[in-house]
Amino acid sequence: MKILKVACVTFVVILGIGSAIRQSAPRARAADGVTAGVRVADREGNLRVPDDYRTSYQLLGSWAIAADGGGGSKEFHVVYASPGVIDAYRKDKRFPDGAVLIKEVFRAATSEMTTGTVSRADALKGWFVMVKDTRNRHPDSALWGDGWGWSWFDAGDRSKTTTTNYKAQCLACHVPARTSDWVYVDGYPPLRH
Ligand code: HEC
Repeated sequence: MKILKVACVTFVVILGIGSAIRQSAPRARAADGVTAGVRVADREGNLRVPDDYRTSYQLLGSWAIAADGGGGSKEFHVVYASPGVIDAYRKDKRFPDGAVLIKEVFRAATSEMTTGTVSRADALKGWFVMVKDTRNRHPDSALWGDGWGWSWFDAGDRSKTTTTNYKAQCLACHVPARTSDWVYVDGYPPLRH
């Protein structure tokens, strides 16, 4: 009876340690961004917009695109980074492998408020997604290269991109940010201390 009890307690302790290790491992890996990258890109390199980024990612910053005639904004861009990316960037001054950047694009609505003429995020148009890839994982893909995976998603479909060629549809417009790994880092205060 006593032996059985000792065996039971030992078994429970081992189970407990086992689940503690299992729980801490993904969290440790998430810190270098890799886990996020794995969840956003499948083996073939197809990207998707993760369901929970608004609660699990960290806010990098936002951009307001002025309306053509003045008087408010016509678009808002809100940019998020996967967990751990901000800390890693502050430390190493570069984006870690697997880092995910998501840019939401909103139509803006402008109205008079007690603070003045104010524009706010209205309907979501879609998402731009970039995944850091230091290993050149998909050399034959037209959506991967120059150190990143690249894709746009219309608001109605977060798993099927409409992008077919990142060089033609993304890269040219990111040339001004080439020296900061194609990312417009000036717009992201959290990357600075
Ligand atoms: C018309 C030019 C243009 C095109 C096309 C474009 N981008 Fe960008 N992108 C920008 C600019 C400028 C910013 C920062 C300012 C802003 O959002 O207006 C930006 C920001 C981003 C960000 C936020 C991180 C960062 O780099 O600052 C992501 C992610 C992004 N773009 C991904 C993409 C992807 C993926 C594509 C192709 C599917 C793409 N972009 C096509 C100009 C462009």
